[in-house]
Amino acid sequence: MAAMGKYRNIVILTGAGVSAESGIDTFRSAGGLWENHRVEDVATPQAFVRDPDLVHRFYDMRRAAIQEKLPNPAHAALAELDARWTGDLLIVTQNVDDLHERAGARRVLHMHGEHLKAWCTSCDLRSPWRTTLIERPPCPVCQARTLRPDVVWFGEMPYRMGEIYAALRSADLFVSIGTSGAVYPAAGFVRDARELGARTLELNLERSQGSRWFHESRLGPASEVVPVWVEEVLA
Ligand code: OAD
Repeated sequence: MAAMGKYRNIVILTGAGVSAESGIDTFRSAGGLWENHRVEDVATPQAFVRDPDLVHRFYDMRRAAIQEKLPNPAHAALAELDARWTGDLLIVTQNVDDLHERAGARRVLHMHGEHLKAWCTSCDLRSPWRTTLIERPPCPVCQARTLRPDVVWFGEMPYRMGEIYAALRSADLFVSIGTSGAVYPAAGFVRDARELGARTLELNLERSQGSRWFHESRLGPASEVVPVWVEEVLA
């Protein structure tokens, strides 16, 4: 049974750092995603119009890669918290991998989309997708060959913002894990949550860009600091 005395409603924001120890490069690490591919070459709607093969190749590679990776103890601890917490809880992830779900978490919201889905820009439906898109396969629903990765690109609106702000409004604890605080609107959630009265905690390898907005920062690898915090909050 969860400790309901101190907190009732929790919002957890996760970023690339929570999956780093599963072997998925963070965005801004040396040798990471943007070092090998300039962001403007792959992660914008304009890039997709200009060079769709490049964009498809890149996301096909990432889609294949994440399927080889496994959840780490940070994902497992958050899944345990999700299973045992009887108050509201929402894991808002910027990650497009499925490691939270594979660890067993249920209350997960992918604000930047998901690698394992394809979005048909003709009929607007999303389909589960595990293989490649570069050969322009038909949409399983309408047959048009207009599938794109179901990920949010720069300049596009993140998903389900209404649900996220509703959760932030009722949260009394906001926890940010493994995110640099460089990309809005997610980077602004801590400030919103704090101004709305929540306690704010960051768990990260180093201080994030919005670190001053957190009541408390615990620095260390997610696989170590997250299980310790989860044990504490469930104690
Ligand atoms: P970043 O790469 O910007 O930040 C990752 C953060 O995780 C950094 O602060 C690292 O210090 C920290 N970190 C690295 N390894 C860690 C570990 N083992 N344990 C804990 N923390 C660790 O990734 P995000 O903040 O997720 O958006 O990036 C946000 C968004 O920027 C992404 O979702 C993506 C990108 O542009 C879109 O694609 C729309």
